[in-house]
Formats: sequence, C-alpha cells, structure tokens
Amino acid sequence: MHRCRTFLHNRLCTNGKRHRRGWRHPPFDYQHMSELRIAVIGYGNMGRYHAEYLSQGKIPGAVLGAIVDTNPTVLAQAKATYSETSVYESTEALLEARGADAVIVATPHYYHPPLAIKALLAGVHALVEKPAGAYTKQIKELNAVAAKSDKIFGIMFNQRTNAAHQKMRDLVASGELGEIKRVLYVITNWTRTQAYYDSGGWRATWEGEGGGVLLNQSPHNLDLLQWIAGMPTRVRGFCAFGKYHNIEVEDDVTAYLQYANGASGVFITTTGEAPGSNLFEVVGDRGKIVLRDGGVTFHRTVEPVSKFLKENPNGFAAPETWVCEINARGGEEHIGITKNFVNAIVNGTPLLASGLEGINGSELANAMLLSTWTDAWVDLPLDSDLYWTELQEQIKNSSTKKDAATQKVMSVAGTF
Ligand SMILES: NC(=O)c1ccc[n+]([C@@H]2O[C@H](COP(=O)([O-])OP(=O)(O)OC[C@H]3O[C@@H](n4cnc5c(N)ncnc54)[C@H](O)[C@@H]3O)[C@@H](O)[C@H]2O)c1
Repeated sequence: MHRCRTFLHNRLCTNGKRHRRGWRHPPFDYQHMSELRIAVIGYGNMGRYHAEYLSQGKIPGAVLGAIVDTNPTVLAQAKATYSETSVYESTEALLEARGADAVIVATPHYYHPPLAIKALLAGVHALVEKPAGAYTKQIKELNAVAAKSDKIFGIMFNQRTNAAHQKMRDLVASGELGEIKRVLYVITNWTRTQAYYDSGGWRATWEGEGGGVLLNQSPHNLDLLQWIAGMPTRVRGFCAFGKYHNIEVEDDVTAYLQYANGASGVFITTTGEAPGSNLFEVVGDRGKIVLRDGGVTFHRTVEPVSKFLKENPNGFAAPETWVCEINARGGEEHIGITKNFVNAIVNGTPLLASGLEGINGSELANAMLLSTWTDAWVDLPLDSDLYWTELQEQIKNSSTKKDAATQKVMSVAGTF
C-alpha cells in the first residue's frame, strides 16, 4: 500500500504518481487527510467567528480541526459547542499532538508573533489576525522565521477582499490616477463604548494590548493606506490618550504623512465620535479617487493636471473632469481571506494578504505613537528598538489596573 505524503494539495504518492483532482485513494483514510485541519487559537469574539464558519463547511477543502484557548472556562465553552472537535489548553499542546495542519491565531495582539512562530517552526501553516503584532521588533522576528519557512503565512486583512478597495488599488497601481500628490483618510466610524473597553482584561492597556485604536480598529485602514498609496517616508502623529474613554491608550489620532515623491497625507481615526466617517481620498495627476462609505468614484481629468496648470492660458480655469462611478462594492471578508489562505496551501494560489506585509501597517501605527511620545517627526523605516524601549516606558508608568481574566464575549458581526 502506498500513502499520500501530505494533503490533497500535492496529490503526490510515494510512488511518484500525481492524482486527478478529487481522486480517492483506497483504502487510505482519504477523508481525514484530504481536508486541511485548521485550528483556531484564541476562542474569543473573533475566534468564535472563525470556528463557526469553518465548522459550517464554508471553506472548501478545510475543516475546524481544533480549538486552543488558555482560559479553561472558555475552553469548556468551546468543548460544549463543538463536542467532536479536539480542544487544547496551549498552542504547544496542539503542536505536540500534531492536531492541526494550519492555525488561525486570534489571540490578543502580543501573542500573534510568538504563536505564529511556533506554528511555522513546527511545520504548520499560519494565518494571523490583524495586527501582525503589537510592535515591529516582534513582527520582524516573525517575518524572519516565515521567510525561511516553506509554510504559508497569511494575515487577516479581510478588508482587502472588498471590491471597492481592490479597485482603488488597481487604479493607482495601473497608473490611471497618475502620480500621487495627496492622500486623506478619515476613518472615524469605529465607535466604541466604555463597555467595549471594559469587556476584556487585556484591552486598552499598554501591557495587555500595546495601544488603542491604532492597534485594534485601524490596522485595517493603515493596511489599506499603504496597500493602495504606498508607505510614507516620515510620520508626525498627534495621539490623544483616553480622550473619550476611561482608558490609558490612544482613542483619537491625527497624523501627517510625507512620501518620497513629495506627496503629503493626513490620517485621522478615533473610536469616540458618532456618526463617524469613512472617507479615503487619493489625489493624483489625473484627478482623484474617492472612497466614501463603501463606494468608489473616480474624478478623472481629461489631461494631466500638471500639464494643464503649466499650459492653460486662463488663470481661473480648472481641467475638464469626468465623474466615473465605479461599480465595485463589498467582498467575502474573513471567509474570503481564509479561502484564499487554504487555496494558497492547496493550489499555490498567491496570497491576497501575505503575512509578511503585516509589518507595514504596524510600522505606521507604532510611528504615530512614537511621534506623539517624542513630540517629533519619525522617519521610516521605524527604529524598532527605540519603539520597543518607549513602549516599555509606557508599560512601566501605567497606573491602569485591570483584571486580566475579565472576558465578556461580544458578537463581532457588522464590526469589520
Ligand atoms: N479581522 C477582524 O475583523 C478582527 C475583529 C475582531 C478582532 N480581531 C483580532 O482578533 C484578536 C482577538 O480579538 P478578540 O476580540 O477575539 O479578543 P477576545 O479577548 O474576545 O479573545 C481572545 C481569546 O484569546 C485567548 N487567549 C489569550 N492568550 C492566549 C494564548 N496565549 N493562547 C491561546 N489563547 C489565548 C483568550 O482566553 C480569549 O479567549 C485581536 O488581535 C483582534 O485585533 C480581528
């Protein structure tokens, strides 16, 4: 009898034959080996959602393989809900038991890098929740391990599945918009109440979370900012700490960005406003692309603005502009990223959100905080050691006392 080496994806037997898709290999336990066993690490608000869609068969080729949580009460809840699924009290125990082929890390941010590193070193594919980590020093360590690994490393930037965001990226990357001159991102609809911050012992503390809105809600937007418009070279941040909530970390941010080509940018975010805005405007030499509340409009000038400014004889003229409403909205969000992750493992499909890119948004978040603490511009790439040292100062000087065990589950539906 010959046995398939790993999973369906290479469909290669030890006798060297490649099987057709869907081919069944008697008497081998094909059902077990053919489906990727994904373990969810961290069975909280987000982990429950991942476990749910995996258990409902919404990810072709994958099953909910196991659940890991360090909190025994939470683990008991997982067992009660998924009686057929193995549960483990630690990632080490899961890996020791070879209980998964891939993991989704949905723990508090500080644990994303160390747990993903453990998985990758054990030969297990890893998909980490955003942000990649709390500080770039630890994310660099993760990226170094991932770069040497032959396993797939993805990050849950679910907003990259949104057709509007993809269209914006295409319009910039294809050159349709021309050279970027300015970006403006006002993302203030992440409204969160005090009850939200009180729901978890790790939330909104330097020690437990490592930051506030920049590390929890806005990682999506910081990623889109860099994914679409590229990375700036300098950042000047103005973070307000506990401005709207009884928390020690930032809940209101305005940051100025400078790009290598002279373009400028402003990024504004908060969890303390209502009704908030979601406005992302990228201005280029051929007009501007505006994302507002989920829809994209391209205001396209018929000729390059730089040429028009130079050559038009009328001092008050503005170039003719076509307003193009782009029919692109929504996406598969988390399910889309997980499907893509599984396809990358099984079929070699390129990742929509490579884990290696997670560092960019985190670098922006860290730079905005560091700039506030030092009251100065911060050049990128960020000095990771300096940031780590400053973060330790915040932790040391913290007077917030929270019960680390506090955990109130809240539905994440509609909060992405
Ligand atoms: N992509 C998104 O849209 C999205 C949405 C919400 C949360 N998240 C991310 O998911 C992560 C978790 O957030 P949450 O709201 O679910 O938090 P949560 O507090 O509700 O859940 C975290 C769980 O992790 C467990 N845990 C803590 N340390 C652990 C460890 N070392 N090993 C295993 N389990 C551990 C806790 O016991 C808890 O059950 C965060 O990083 C957050 O940014 C992403």
